[in-house]
Amino acid sequence: MELIIAKDYREMSHQAATQVAANIIVKPELVLGLATGSTPVGTYEELIKMRKKGMVDFSKVTTFNLDEYIGLGPKDEASYHHFMFHNLFSGINVKRENINLLNGLAKDPEAECRRYEKAIRKAGGIDLQIVGIGQNGHIGFNEPCDVFPTVTHIVDLSEETRRVNAKFFKDKKKVPTQAISVGIGTIMKAKEIILLANTKEKAEAITEAIEGPVRPQVPASVLQLHPKSVMMLTEQAAKGLKRIFDKSSKFSYIEKKVL
Ligand code: PGA
Repeated sequence: MELIIAKDYREMSHQAATQVAANIIVKPELVLGLATGSTPVGTYEELIKMRKKGMVDFSKVTTFNLDEYIGLGPKDEASYHHFMFHNLFSGINVKRENINLLNGLAKDPEAECRRYEKAIRKAGGIDLQIVGIGQNGHIGFNEPCDVFPTVTHIVDLSEETRRVNAKFFKDKKKVPTQAISVGIGTIMKAKEIILLANTKEKAEAITEAIEGPVRPQVPASVLQLHPKSVMMLTEQAAKGLKRIFDKSSKFSYIEKKVL
């Protein structure tokens, strides 16, 4: 696990966008796993800027998003489909046919999970996966549970996740109770994973995920086992890490400070 600590959100976003762009330059037909939520918005803004300057070309890139609420369609402003077009896809030259999103309105959500998993496999798996982290340690919508979910599946959202995500809904009562999420197994098969976290509210989950035991009760802790996972954090999100503040700590992840 590699740890990158940026001084603030702007630096973190710039660093993440740079990594994505570098991956696309090395492999123009990159299969890119994308996340939603407030955290990656700055990264997406940076990518749009880089595209406008001609620094990066998305024309051969394929994307797969991590999750979607069950019951929300593309026209719903709180859907992740809408989020992605609004925050990224409308500003870059990715081809529509190369954008893969989960259908929150699928009549048969189980079949939708199977379709998506198959599409990821057909694309050759994810090369670079961006993930956020929930205050409860979730990645994608893989909520704390007893066994790591492997493939794309239906999730009952925890009360905590619904409360935190209510900020994206005009009518707080309309936060869905279920979602579809790519599983931990599929995320772990990505060749590289970048986890982004920037607020102090994430500090506890980050400490648990990096320094605690690997367990499904803290889904993000599984990234300790990935050969190429990068925790890209702000100082605020990293403030609970002993390695940074306690020099006698036994932890041995690679630490890079982005100044
Ligand atoms: P956030 O969500 O970026 O809005 O904090 C992250 C997540 O829940 O995965």
